[in-house]
Formats: sequence, C-alpha cells, structure tokens
Amino acid sequence: MNAISRLATVISLASLSALPLSVLAAESKGSVEVVHWWTSGGEKAAVDVLKAQVEKDGFTWKDGAVAGGGGSTAMTVLKSRAVAGNPPGVAQIKGPDIQEWGSTGLLSTDALKDVSKAENWDGLLSKKVSDTVKYEGDYVAVPVNIHRVNWLWINPQVFKKAGIEKAPTTLEEFYAAGDKLKAAGFIALAHGGQPWQDSTVFEDIVLSVMGVDGYKKALVDLDQKTLSGPQMTQSFAELKKITTYMDPNRAGRDWNIAAAEVINGKAGMQMMGDWAKSEWTAAKKVPGKDYQCVPFPGTEKAFTYNIDSLAVFKLKADRKGDIAAQQDLAKVALGTDFQKVFSMNKGSIPVRNDMLKEMDKLGFDECAQKSANDFIADDKSGGLQPSMAHNMATSLAVQGAIFDVVTNFMNDKDADPAKASAQLASAVKAAQ
Ligand code: GAL
Repeated sequence: MNAISRLATVISLASLSALPLSVLAAESKGSVEVVHWWTSGGEKAAVDVLKAQVEKDGFTWKDGAVAGGGGSTAMTVLKSRAVAGNPPGVAQIKGPDIQEWGSTGLLSTDALKDVSKAENWDGLLSKKVSDTVKYEGDYVAVPVNIHRVNWLWINPQVFKKAGIEKAPTTLEEFYAAGDKLKAAGFIALAHGGQPWQDSTVFEDIVLSVMGVDGYKKALVDLDQKTLSGPQMTQSFAELKKITTYMDPNRAGRDWNIAAAEVINGKAGMQMMGDWAKSEWTAAKKVPGKDYQCVPFPGTEKAFTYNIDSLAVFKLKADRKGDIAAQQDLAKVALGTDFQKVFSMNKGSIPVRNDMLKEMDKLGFDECAQKSANDFIADDKSGGLQPSMAHNMATSLAVQGAIFDVVTNFMNDKDADPAKASAQLASAVKAAQ
C-alpha cells in the first residue's frame, strides 16, 4: 500500500468513530485555528501580521503553533489530530503532501471556490504555484509566499577579520574561505544537526555538483541510476568535506540558533533558505551592509523553491462562521498588503506575479529583488526546481528515507560516499 492510501485508510477509519470538536465560541463571528511551525522570532513577527488582519476582520484566531523547524513535528501533530477526528480549520501543508491530504477527503474543495474566483487566483499565480495548491482542479490551500532554499548567508565583518575578500562562487573558493575562517578561530559554517537541516545542505551540494538536470533526475524524478551513480557519490564526498567546516557540537541545534551565530559574529556562513533572513531582519540588520546573501556556490542558475501554503480543512456546513473565517484568512493571505508585509518579515518573496515584477518599487531589499528576478528567469530556463528537503519534491515517506541516509552519513566520520549513494537508491526505492 502506498503512502497516500495508508494515510487515507487510517484517517477514514478513525473519523468514523470520532466527532469533530467544535471550537466555535457562542457569540464569535467565527474562529479559525491555524496549525503552523513559524515560531522563531522573525517567523513569529511574520505570522502575527496574518493574525492581526484576521482579527481586524472580526474573527477569532486560535494559534496552533507547533515548534520545530522544517515542520516534521507539526505534521505528526496534524496527522494525529486528523486521526482523532479533530483537525484544525487551517494548517501549513506543502507540496505533494497537499495531494495526499486531498485524497483523504479531509480538505475542503468548496471553501475557496468563491474567493479564488473573485480574487482571480488563476491569473495572479504561476502555474507551478497554483498546481501545487489545487487538488483535482480545486484550490484546497492558499499559497502565502515563495522561499528560495539555495542561499548562502555571510557575515562580511567576519570574512574581513579572517582575511577573505569576497563571497565564494565555486566549491573550491568555499573550502578556501572555510579554511581561513577556521584558522582565524571562527565557526566556518553555522549549522544545526537536525535531519531537515542536514538535507538542506545535501540538496544544495547535489545541485552544485550535478547541475539542474542531475538534481531533477535524482531528487525529483528519483531515477535509480542517478541516485546511485558516480555524481551522487561525488556529492556525498563533498558533503563529507563540508561537514568538517561545521561545529562538532551542532546536534539538535535549531536553525535560528545557527543563524544567530552568524549574526553575532561567531560564525562566517550558513547554508539555509531565506527564512534565515527573517532573523537578520528581526535583529535590524541590513543586507549588503551587515550581511550578504548569495546563491550557494555552483547553483547561481538554479532556484530551489519552497512554497508555504495554508490548507483548508472541511468543516460541517453548520459552522458557517468558521468557514467564513477560513475564507477571510485566504482572501487576506493573497492580498497585496499582506503579501508585502509578510514576506518582508519572513525573508521570502510574494507569490503574486504582479508583485514579483515590481519588487524594487514595493520597497523589497536586494536579496528579495534578486530572488524574484531569479524566480522569473529560472522558471523560463528550467532552473526552477522543487526543494526535496522542504517537502516540495517527493512524498514525506521518500523524503524521510533520504533524510535518514544523509543524517547517518554526516554523523559517521568513517562513512563511505560510494556506499551512501547505493544506500540512498535502495532507501528511496523501498519508500516509494
Ligand atoms: C520551511 C518552511 C519555512 C520555514 C522553515 C523553518 O520548511 O517552509 O517557512 O518555516 O521551514 O522552519
């Protein structure tokens, strides 16, 4: 049985015996519970923008934040709530996982019908984005932003102190910078040893070593030959080398703590998606002056995307106020005001094509402007690829299998790159 039908069976059996819990307060206009994992300082500032707007419109916001970067804890909580027949009104669900949830019948294919038509979502979004958030042709989620994953964050003051003149553009320059940082007593590469962070680094390396086509064949198409091939072995060899630039005490460290090490001048660099910028923004740092954002060396012509989206659960028809709250949230989320303020806080770029074309005029910083330009260019060239580490490319089962191989490899000093690529291919096959 594949992952979709496994999830569908568990959930449909459980919902026969459990009744949804009503969270409707008697005299409220309607309320919406939102399960998400935006809990770092910068992320909280971003999600508070949505909360404030929904509350301004007269609805009650019930915060369902579940800590844990990358969202795997939030997904576990969400599944158990769904199994217990008590899903929230809205939850952060992304990529192909939306299709899995759609197939359980628990997402609403109706709630967003009118609002998506009235607000012309089809016209505002690129097809890659709208396809991701539709289930069998109907919107079941509202996309809130686009993150780019393949960024390298640099503290230029630390670089200067270590005698490094410019941001690295090749892996060789990256290693040379790492050596200088280490020699000068800094942590070269800030990192948190959590599986999703390990695989964020891994996918950047695969992209750098194998190029866009190789990345797509390996991590999107899951081609067995490419997964076990010589370029994958090479990627594991580079991963092994990159690990030597990380702090050995990184186990379990959250991504925002790693970001803080770069912000506070303890470390020189971090490989992380642009939610890392939310921490720089919250610390009142300015790009180009206090920090630099550059594509990870060797990935300039590519954009690994990560679209955050909020999926809408089916509610009983008599919960009219709560359904109205879901619809209000969806309308707000794609509105220009929210799109601008949210992404400015979150480090991402808007999902609306009209806004992506005028980032400068809208007051977005240079990192966001570059991201938007590259998104548009890479969409045309084929360089726009879904991030495996951020649930955009594969099922969560396949992603979990890749995470295990990568994290085990990084934590074993004696691990062999050739063996790891063979393991990767067989782990992916078993999870499909
Ligand atoms: C990503 C998510 C981002 C950010 C990050 C760290 O998967 O898309 O919005 O929250 O995890 O938690």
